[in-house]
Amino acid sequence: MTTEIKPNVHWVGAIDWNVRDFHGYSTPAGTTYNSYLIKDDKIALFDTVKKEFLSDLLHNLHHLTDPEKIDYLIVNHVELDHSGSLPEIIKLIKPKKVLTSPMGLKAIEAHFHPKDWPLEVVKSGDTLNLGKKTIHFLETKMLHWPDSMFSYIPEDKLLISSDAFGEHWATSKRFDDEVDNHMLMKHAAKYYANILTIFSPQVQKLLAQVAEMKLDIDMIAPDHGIIWRKSPGKIIAAYDQWSRQESRDKAVIVYDSMWKSTEKMAKAIYSGLVDQGVETLLMNAHVNHRSDIITEILDARAVFFGSPTLNNNILPRMADILTYLKGLRPKGKLAASFGSFGWSGESVKHLNGYIEAMGLELIDAGVKIKNVPDHEGLKLCVELGRKAGAIIMARD
Ligand code: FEO
Repeated sequence: MTTEIKPNVHWVGAIDWNVRDFHGYSTPAGTTYNSYLIKDDKIALFDTVKKEFLSDLLHNLHHLTDPEKIDYLIVNHVELDHSGSLPEIIKLIKPKKVLTSPMGLKAIEAHFHPKDWPLEVVKSGDTLNLGKKTIHFLETKMLHWPDSMFSYIPEDKLLISSDAFGEHWATSKRFDDEVDNHMLMKHAAKYYANILTIFSPQVQKLLAQVAEMKLDIDMIAPDHGIIWRKSPGKIIAAYDQWSRQESRDKAVIVYDSMWKSTEKMAKAIYSGLVDQGVETLLMNAHVNHRSDIITEILDARAVFFGSPTLNNNILPRMADILTYLKGLRPKGKLAASFGSFGWSGESVKHLNGYIEAMGLELIDAGVKIKNVPDHEGLKLCVELGRKAGAIIMARD
């Protein structure tokens, strides 16, 4: 099934209704692998699909053309969800050229060890004429791989944006004006939080570069999810906000508990924060996936980490979440830790170590309570919440 997104520009990708994990990122709504075909005097295919979806792509291509008539294959991104079908597709269509960025060439060589592919490197500013349409290439290094590249077609005001501006969302609809926009922005925020938070400085630079180039864009077609036809400016503005790591009066309490003592402490900190007017989420590591936790942290001003001490350390679910967060490097947030203990009580020290390693602003030495908190112990937690709440509200 194909969709014409602009005159003679077609979506020919695949819908993955079943994927639930994307290298550690939960995808309860599946995803799509978007591939695009331009039929002009020359025919160009932009990216492919995950290997196991090759037949979907071929079925779509056959619907529009004899695949052997495709002249150019543009590889905007070499991660395997877009390039997994390359060897079979190249064998089948025998393109005149396979065009990719300088780092794309290195990535193709390292992934596929090609012997006789007609590879050609394109750089920012290079163009490829297809007849009535032209492809302008723009390298977008580290968004989110070194090889990443945009393709811009000025005649259509169309930006084919690789992974940027996408979401993991399997749907029979292709365009932003056809889907629930609240859901769309939730999926887009989750995508940004889990894939791009670490590259926020590069996102800022790219947005400035695109503004300086004065690219006239009325459609953004990413490699995953929905095509921005009605409101491309909306996702650009959201990327600007997310990459500035702007926060609001919001706190997230992430914790795991052994015998509910640390959970009682989490609830007491929560009540202190709410007393101060802070929107607060309690996220138990047992029932919240790491990728949903980083999504909630994206616009939070403060984050609290709680764990009891287990074997002189923290509970493993918290270590999983903290390792993930540390890798994504959220910035500009306040943080504190808490936890109960039986005899040695190292959890707060370890949690504070993660906070410092992440570069977050530690606002308190943390609260540790032996075994089960009594009213006095819980009061300390409420006080931590109130103190943090006052700082959060003052940072507007
Ligand atoms: Fe959708 Fe970076 O691959």
